[in-house]
Amino acid sequence: MRVTIKDIANEAGVSITTVSRVLNNREDVNEKTREKVLKIIEKYNYNPNSVARSLVMNKTYTIGLIVPDISNPFFAEIARAVDDELRGYGYSVLVCNTDNKKQREKESIDLLRSKQVDSIIGSFSDDIYEEIFKLEREGIPVVQIDRFVKDSKAPAIIVDNTSSAYLATEYLIKKGHKKIVHIAGDLNTNTGYCRAEGYRMALEDNNIDFNEELFLQGDFGLRSAYLALKELLEKEASFTAVFASNDLMAIGAYEALREYGLKIPEDVSVFGHDNSLLSSLVKPGLSTMHQPIYKLGKKAARVVIDILKDNKYPEPRRIIIKTSLVERASVKAIN
Ligand code: RIB
Repeated sequence: MRVTIKDIANEAGVSITTVSRVLNNREDVNEKTREKVLKIIEKYNYNPNSVARSLVMNKTYTIGLIVPDISNPFFAEIARAVDDELRGYGYSVLVCNTDNKKQREKESIDLLRSKQVDSIIGSFSDDIYEEIFKLEREGIPVVQIDRFVKDSKAPAIIVDNTSSAYLATEYLIKKGHKKIVHIAGDLNTNTGYCRAEGYRMALEDNNIDFNEELFLQGDFGLRSAYLALKELLEKEASFTAVFASNDLMAIGAYEALREYGLKIPEDVSVFGHDNSLLSSLVKPGLSTMHQPIYKLGKKAARVVIDILKDNKYPEPRRIIIKTSLVERASVKAIN
């Protein structure tokens, strides 16, 4: 006969609520009681029927996570951090990959809505504002991570992308580079747009004219940067450094430069953004801006827990985490 939560409670001599608190790893249970209940759960190998549980608690204990590119080490680490943190509170995570496509973002939101997730964490493009607003109205809290929709009031765990890119560009300028290519990410995302702004501002503040020819459009993917820089090289354009809006595109730049017979950093310096796992593995190591990726994911998960358990929203709604410059061997001074 199937063991129910009532059987567990009776044998432990506690209420059903207490057993539920133990199952959801709530902090408001004293340790001795928790141990006693866990022992009985283990004894009967009790696995609460999630559908029944969700009916009783009107919750599914699942959280949706929407990312633009799960193959990008940046988002893989985000997913890891979110899952690690939420699992500790008895939540499961459903991950949706959108391939940076607006239609896929909408499909993902519709799918997660149909799964009745308790909340959604997402790295969204600017177009999805209306959908976020609808979710909030339906009582499904949204927490934005990394990329955020500027008009949305949903909490956002982000870095200051403009100043991060400004520091990266200024670092190259201080090394004597004046002809700096920028390979921008998707400008329809606040990360892509703000980093391009930071690049422009640093040039202007150092009296370096913005040169349209050296401003390339990527999509945060390795191949987009490779193709864009290859095209510029074939035009015989003159430049001494490349600042890419993320590490994957910086690696795409490595490929194009090498194919053209150029050495890094002897001939051309390269700078990335993220400090994802790849940046320390490529040769030469990639100088980049460190984003505390795991911390971003962990923090977003904590904000979700605070909202679901205590209806507590962060004020201000945007939590900005600092980036820092990581110097490796891909940049050479030319002054
Ligand atoms: O590498 C993926 C990029 O897109 C990262 O820079 C991250 O900030 C995201 O916006």
